[in-house]
Amino acid sequence: MDKKVVLSGMRPTGKLHLGHWVGALSNWIDLQEKYSCFFMVADWHALMSEYKSPSYVNEYIIDNVSDWLSYGIDPKESVIFVQSQIPQHLELFMILSFLTPLGWLSRCPTFKEQLISLKSKEINTYAFLGYPVLQSSDVLLYKADFVPVGDDQLPHLELCREIARRFHFIYGKQIFIQPQALLTSISRLLGIDGRKMSKSYNNSIALCDEDEDIETKVLAMFTDPQRLKKEDNGRPEICNVFNCYSIFKKEIKNQVYDWCSKGQRGCVACKKILAGVLKEFIAPKREKKKEFLKKKDYIYDILKEGKIKAQEVAAKTLEEVKEAMGL
Ligand code: TRP
Ligand code: SF4
Repeated sequence: MDKKVVLSGMRPTGKLHLGHWVGALSNWIDLQEKYSCFFMVADWHALMSEYKSPSYVNEYIIDNVSDWLSYGIDPKESVIFVQSQIPQHLELFMILSFLTPLGWLSRCPTFKEQLISLKSKEINTYAFLGYPVLQSSDVLLYKADFVPVGDDQLPHLELCREIARRFHFIYGKQIFIQPQALLTSISRLLGIDGRKMSKSYNNSIALCDEDEDIETKVLAMFTDPQRLKKEDNGRPEICNVFNCYSIFKKEIKNQVYDWCSKGQRGCVACKKILAGVLKEFIAPKREKKKEFLKKKDYIYDILKEGKIKAQEVAAKTLEEVKEAMGL
């Protein structure tokens, strides 16, 4: 039997950090064998909020893809491509726009939230309102059965299914697959300051950070605020350093729990060990990435091959769409 199809995308708006690894990339890597995977650089989606600095978006395409490769996305196994290189995304986006009622989009919770949280980016625009329509086009073009996303993206997937149903209803032909979310792990990685790890909060550890930076950042991490000296009994369950152990070094999680809650070891010592764990995790991939970036042609070749494979599927679906509409 043919493998089920998975499609997911990331917006190239900055350096990838450990939050991306926990929330998406690690999951993508695990899905590669079981599914036929399409991993997309969502550059049009990035430009919807970063339209004032398009050159950054361009730069981060290669940067992000080299992180994907060094952390374990395998171009022999999965199709890696750039959204804007496949014109069918915009064509289907237009067609789906015909039949998407404005109210569905203006009521979308992510739209309302981002207008507030990204106020300085001036995204109260025509294109940004249509963000979930373009995302639907991404998913429907490849007839993805599953879309690995974080729970923040669930409203977009729900909209995608509604748009697909509306297309089927209006044109009387079932051509799309109703995609299901594959929720990424429940564990959430917080940033140095205890807020969600995010580039815009400047609280992240990048997937290619140098050892010194990792050390400095880990030592600056917020911990249990009630723990002032080593002898105080700590509360690991509210400490982000402990949370990192439970994600990156499960084997010693219980030990850390004990030394913290029984006041046996101080926070600086605890953080130093975590810094070592993270350095060991990041360093080999960081060095691999440097190698990839030295031979950019290799990355361009992968994207070229990905483009060919993705376009084959996308073009076929768009043909079916046009046929269903009698165009
Ligand atoms: N909106 C997604 C995000 O911000 C990125 C994305 C674009 C995407 N197109 C997609 C994710 C299609 C899954 C499927 O993370
Ligand atoms: Fe956090 Fe470690 Fe300090 Fe406990 S000892 S509060 S887990 S940094």
